[in-house]
Amino acid sequence: MSSTVFSSQSYKGTRDFYPEDLARRNYIFETWRKVLKQYGFVEYETSLLENAELYIAKSGQELGGKQLYNFTDKGDRFVALRPEQTPSLARIVANKFGELKFPLRWFSIPNCFRYEQPQKGRFREHWQLNVDIIGQEAGAVELEILNLLGELFKSFGATQNHFKIMYNHRSVLEMWIDKNGLNPNKPLVYSVLDDWFKKSLEKNIEELKNPVDESKVGISDETLIQKIVDLTQKIGQSWADYIEIASTFPELNLILGKIEQIQPELEYELNPCIIRGIAYYTGLVFEAFDKNPQNPRALFGGGRYDNLMELFGKTSPAIGFGWGDATMHEFLTNWDLYPDFQAGLQKVGIMPFAETDLEKIYLEIIPALRAEGKSFEIDYDYTRNQEKRWISLKKRGCSEVIKLGQS
Ligand code: HAM
Repeated sequence: MSSTVFSSQSYKGTRDFYPEDLARRNYIFETWRKVLKQYGFVEYETSLLENAELYIAKSGQELGGKQLYNFTDKGDRFVALRPEQTPSLARIVANKFGELKFPLRWFSIPNCFRYEQPQKGRFREHWQLNVDIIGQEAGAVELEILNLLGELFKSFGATQNHFKIMYNHRSVLEMWIDKNGLNPNKPLVYSVLDDWFKKSLEKNIEELKNPVDESKVGISDETLIQKIVDLTQKIGQSWADYIEIASTFPELNLILGKIEQIQPELEYELNPCIIRGIAYYTGLVFEAFDKNPQNPRALFGGGRYDNLMELFGKTSPAIGFGWGDATMHEFLTNWDLYPDFQAGLQKVGIMPFAETDLEKIYLEIIPALRAEGKSFEIDYDYTRNQEKRWISLKKRGCSEVIKLGQS
């Protein structure tokens, strides 16, 4: 026998799901599944292992770089544990491109691996609901997705007091940057806006003037800096220009004109600071935030990605989002939105007093309980005090008891 005693902790940044934890996660998954099926989405699955090059080519510097779990297998293939689902989705759609009936409304709940610093709501392994519509050009489908996101939240009992959905459009921001002569500073403006709410105004202005990353071009003109500040505060000419550009995109017009009518009780906001880190987005981008400042990370993120299928030699418009289980768990816990999992559960304790009782249990009692839809648990401590046996069954979740034989 080996003398090594191993740590009983899970691998760094992963979670063990004890039964109560899994009950919560399953509740999240089942609530998502129920709504999505009603909305005509069907579920699919792919392998955890993928060609690592896919992420290097398309996911961007973080996901396809330092966060990637990759290795070379025994056949010299360069393999990754998927950090996200979207490239796998593009691959399987491309693989049966001629056979599939578009538009596809598909969803999946894969586990994804990212080599990042574990922290509250952020892990090295997380589960991520992925919802995508493939084969539909920008337009009404953008509104459908934003509406669906609101419906998903509502199905957990969430209201506008709890969360806010923010959206933006990559091309609008790009055109605004061009219009204001900020083209040489584009990477800087993107990165500063992306982090805008995480830092103070002074820090943001300082970063715009003297970027920490020296490969980015700083802005010396104070009026340009003020324009960016005004844009983030949605005031003045900056914001007027932004809205004017936005109104040239039919999908944004549709959202701006209709989302408040469709979801009057929820909060949706066009916000130029929604950038999204992933490289493949081409149009609308969106995220949701918990209104509880203790949970500052995006609850979900997504957008339009019309060029990703090109990785596999196909062309198709696409839009979708990923919604993690970990931030959702924080959200439901903080706002006390989990249901009582014990309520309505009927587990019956069965107390035999000798082995001779077992036949009756298996032939009569269990079939009858199953027919009534009740679960059960048998206590085999024949010789123990009756009261103590009952207390111990109660502690294990039994609400009633069937006693057999004699005490
Ligand atoms: P993402 O923004 O990288 O997008 O991730 C989406 C969501 O997954 C995040 O908002 C967060 O809830 C969760 N998440 C991501 N990383 C972690 C982590 N390390 N720990 C816990 N939760 C995490 C994507 O992955 C896109 N592929 C989504 C998409 C689907 N776009 C179009 N279709």
